[in-house]
Amino acid sequence: MKLKNIFILFLIASNSSVMAEPIDEGKEIFLNRCGMCHKYPEPSALNATQWKFVLKKMQKRMEFLKMVPLTDEENEKVYEYLRRMSK
Ligand code: HEC
Repeated sequence: MKLKNIFILFLIASNSSVMAEPIDEGKEIFLNRCGMCHKYPEPSALNATQWKFVLKKMQKRMEFLKMVPLTDEENEKVYEYLRRMSK
């Protein structure tokens, strides 16, 4: 294998965001952002439809409190995580 190829492989392997599943990113965002105003909610407490609704509501609450709200993309990733863990 050429040295250049090995280098590229190394770059891919070391850049976790390339490899990370959206669900891991969702969990990370959840852990970073969803415990700021209250205790972490229990993912299994709600079903997927309820999570969709709650996430929109939380986005508005963050705006309202002049926090940087989650982007729609971030919200989607958190939703993906919560949906898998939901009841
Ligand atoms: C800007 C502050 C803030 C952030 C950040 C926040 N929440 Fe909330 N959340 C609230 C408030 C205010 C309530 C209602 C009062 C309470 O339960 O403390 C609430 C309530 C909830 C509830 C109970 C149901 C409801 O709507 O009252 C859930 C579930 C919830 N939040 C989930 C989340 C998730 C998931 C995130 C991360 C995406 C999040 N929250 C981030 C402010 C926030």
